[in-house]
Formats: sequence, structure tokens, C-alpha cells
Amino acid sequence: MSRPVEPKLEAAEVRENRALGSGYHLLSLEAPEVAARAAAGHFLMLAPAPETGPSFDPLLPRPFSFLARDPAAGQVQLFFRTVGRGTRLLAAQPPGTRLRALGPLGRPWPDVPAEPALLVAGGVGMPPILDLATELAARGRAVEVFYGGRGACDLHLLDRFRATRASLTLATDDGSQGWRGRVTEPLEARLADGATGCLYACGPTPMLRAVARLGERYALPTYVSLEAPMACGIGVCRGCAVPARLGDGSGHDAPQSYRMVCVDGPVFEAGEVAW
Ligand SMILES: Cc1cc2nc3c(=O)[nH]c(=O)nc-3n(C[C@H](O)[C@H](O)[C@H](O)COP(=O)(O)OP(=O)(O)OC[C@H]3O[C@@H](n4cnc5c(N)ncnc54)[C@H](O)[C@@H]3O)c2cc1C
Ligand code: FES
Repeated sequence: MSRPVEPKLEAAEVRENRALGSGYHLLSLEAPEVAARAAAGHFLMLAPAPETGPSFDPLLPRPFSFLARDPAAGQVQLFFRTVGRGTRLLAAQPPGTRLRALGPLGRPWPDVPAEPALLVAGGVGMPPILDLATELAARGRAVEVFYGGRGACDLHLLDRFRATRASLTLATDDGSQGWRGRVTEPLEARLADGATGCLYACGPTPMLRAVARLGERYALPTYVSLEAPMACGIGVCRGCAVPARLGDGSGHDAPQSYRMVCVDGPVFEAGEVAW
């Protein structure tokens, strides 16, 4: 797996904060130190509001994956959905606001030469998948993207996916766009059709579990990007622990251990996770 890089603490200036509808937002930040170091799959811890006045509410920064990185322009872009106080505050920050950002953090996607790269995104797990699709396509790799959501209103930035020239298969639970059903169904059909390569996935845990099972069944290298509640992002608070599977090669699972999503992940080899 790729090694982590040294993170930088930076006052990131909001350049654009655009509502995309249905609670989704696109946030562009000027953060040259972070942009220069980040790779697809890294994340950053971002304070949702500037530290002004006597209140430090919310006290803790929030973790976000990179959607896009432009080291030449010194900018990074995030895509987020408002789910609570922190993300609602973040959605209200106007251009010019400076927010405390620490990053890049964690381990990014590994560089696996197997082709095609089969990328699976579910809901708000889309950002590190678009970032990876952009990076792999720029390197001339064959990329196939499977992107699912509850409905059409959960599928965003499709023009950006299409601009990578990756093949794009959409799926929605309600059938309002693309395949009706789970995004892993067209993926499974593609694998049954003989696709090999490498699987990369980010999205809700049931989707990741299903992708991990498919990877195991078809004997493909499989990487998943996990989410967990995070307070520090740097391995100190141990709030982001997930159970890990320690295979000992004997066919029996070794005693369970734990991994910190912030420093051991967020990208894990799927077989490492105790699903
Ligand atoms: C490595 C990583 C990358 C992430 N990237 C993105 C991203 O690109 N875009 C995006 O929209 N979100 C992303 N998230 C999730 C995002 O950090 C949370 O949605 C955010 O912290 C919620 O803050 P809040 O104050 O609005 O909500 P809170 O009030 O803190 O929580 C609201 C609800 O969301 C749940 N929740 C909070 N954090 C998480 C979490 N990490 N995982 C699962 N449930 C959670 C809480 O249990 C609660 O039910 C990422 C999380 C991690 C760990
Ligand atoms: S978020 Fe603190 S240890 Fe991972």
C-alpha cells in the first residue's frame, strides 16, 4: 500500500461554495500546501467555520475526501452532503472565508497496473472515485465507473466523469436514472461477462461489503475506502477504529484486531476488513 505523506496545517480560503441541490455542495479551496502533496484517496480534516468570536462550536474538524486537486493552481475541490451541524455550517461559508485545513491525511489508492480499473461509487462516496478516475484516465489506463445512488438527484457531476472518457454505468434504487437497483448488480454482470482488472470502491458499508465479496469470488485485487467518525484524523483519539481480519493462511481467522481508518486507511485492501 502507498505510504502516507507529511500533512500540512493551512488556512484554506474558500474560492467557491456552490449548492448542487438535494443537500449536495461543491467546495473549492485555495490550499497550495495541501494541493501540492495530495493524491487520489487522501482526505483532509477541515474546520467547518472560521475560529472567530468566543465560540469554538463545533470544536472538531470534519473529514472530507478530495474530489479534485490542482497543484498548479494551488486548489483542491470537495463534494459534500449536509447531514449535521458541521456540514450545514460549511455549506454557509462564503468565498473569502479562511478555514483551518489539515492534510493530506491517510493512505491514498494504491497504484495497481491491472486493467481495466473497475471503480464503484455509492452516494456521497463518489469524490475519491472521481478523483481516481481522473488520475488513471490521465495516465492512459482503461477505466470503467459504476456510480449508484438512491435516485437521480443523488448522482452528480456526470459531465466530469464523462470528460475522463471512462465508461460510465449509472444505477438508482428507484430506477429514476440508469439501471434500477443496486450499483453492484451491473458490476456483477460485467464480472460474469469476463471483466478482470482491479476493483476500487467508496460508498456505504453494505455496498463495500458486496464489492468485497465480488472481488473475492472473482479473485480480483479489491480496495475499499472506508468512513468512520473522526475526531483527530492523525491516529491519536482512536475514535475511528474498525475491526480487521488477520488471515494467517491456515483457513482460520486469527483473533480480531483493529485498524485506524485515519492512519491505516481510509483505503484498505478489502480482505483486511472484518465485514
Ligand atoms: C475519510 C473520510 C472521508 C469523507 N469524505 C466525505 C466526502 O467527500 N463528502 C461527504 O459529504 N462526507 C464525507 N465524509 C463524511 C463526513 O465527514 C461527515 O458527513 C461529516 O463529518 C458530518 O459532520 P456533521 O457535523 O455535518 O454531522 P454530525 O452532526 O457530526 O453527524 C450527523 C450524522 O452523520 C453521521 N456521521 C458523521 N460522520 C460520519 C462518518 N464519517 N461516517 C458515517 N456517518 C457519519 C453521524 O453519526 C450522524 O448520524 C467523509 C468521512 C471520512 C471518514
Ligand atoms: S480519527 Fe483519531 S485516531 Fe483516527
